[in-house]
Amino acid sequence: SDTEKGTYSHFMLKEIDEQPFVIRNIIQKYQDEDGDIKLDQDIRTALNNADRLYVIAAGTSYHAGLAGKELMEKVAEKPTEVHIASEFLYNEPLLSKNPLFIFISQSGETADCRGVLVNVKEKGCQSLTITNVPGSTLTRESDFTLHTYAGPEIAVASTKAYTAQMAVFSILAMDGARAQGINTDFNAITELGLIANAMETLCDQKDRMEQVARDYMFDTRNCFFIGRAMDYHVVQEGALKLKEISYIQAEGFAGGELKHGTIALIEDGTPVVGVTTQQHVNANIRGNIQEVIARGANACIISTEATKEEGDTIVLPNINELLSPLVSVVPLQLISYYAALHRGCDVDKPRNLAKSVTVE
Ligand code: AGP
Repeated sequence: SDTEKGTYSHFMLKEIDEQPFVIRNIIQKYQDEDGDIKLDQDIRTALNNADRLYVIAAGTSYHAGLAGKELMEKVAEKPTEVHIASEFLYNEPLLSKNPLFIFISQSGETADCRGVLVNVKEKGCQSLTITNVPGSTLTRESDFTLHTYAGPEIAVASTKAYTAQMAVFSILAMDGARAQGINTDFNAITELGLIANAMETLCDQKDRMEQVARDYMFDTRNCFFIGRAMDYHVVQEGALKLKEISYIQAEGFAGGELKHGTIALIEDGTPVVGVTTQQHVNANIRGNIQEVIARGANACIISTEATKEEGDTIVLPNINELLSPLVSVVPLQLISYYAALHRGCDVDKPRNLAKSVTVE
């Protein structure tokens, strides 16, 4: 059942493995009999009428929002901002004339998000919640809800909720493009099908992922993750995953930003995970990886069939570049899992953390 581990040693591993099914489930739920996108007409209208989207979230859901922004801007041509809920709450940016607020929250209970929702409702703004828990506080209090259909997520470290949130965003973006008559060849349904297959391929490579964790993470105090464009978003999530369950200090950086300070921290043997799935910046990020290798870093390179070079650590199947975080996050989740396991950490219930943060 959804709330039992079955043969799994941890909920986190079970939930990582469930991702291909979750994506296929989302495809089904958001499609009608004719294969068209099924979406509440009111949501379509709200999205169409908005002159700017404000995505509000925390933690992993914020990282999904970063990818969501790219989808909304590049596919649906909707100007989008992403904000950390607790920052927006006390330091509100200038709002557009007709904003639509999109709250992303696995639990639908995050107090920082609710605080923002209360404030923007008072201003008369419309709101949409993307959540895994229908009936949660955010869904009850916002105008519209989109369900991520990921099934209960028990492990404190979010995995399947993150990929599900981005999948729902891709459907929203495709629908938004169609509704506005934007000519795009982006078909979220087709792409998500391919994503589910790619996820499955990676979930079948657990021994390899454990080996990578052993080579890079088993005995280190810190670890850096670097990427550009969509890969910058996913490395922030990879770093959060690693630190919250293994307690290894980890940070995700934009590849080009390293030389502006962080590179000072690279020592002999420092693990650096470089993710490169974006062809237009492949050469740039490889340059950044060379810079850290020259300073002694132990570089773990995750590329795709389209960007690979000899000697890369993990090569992902080819995927739509705008959706690459859904796939590139899988090895990052698994590497974090094995690192935490080896270090004797309580994988499902890391210290100091609660599954949903219902206090400000
Ligand atoms: C993720 O692994 C976290 N434990 C945490 O960052 C989480 O994503 C955040 O607290 C937001 O929760 P929500 O999605 O339920 O709002």
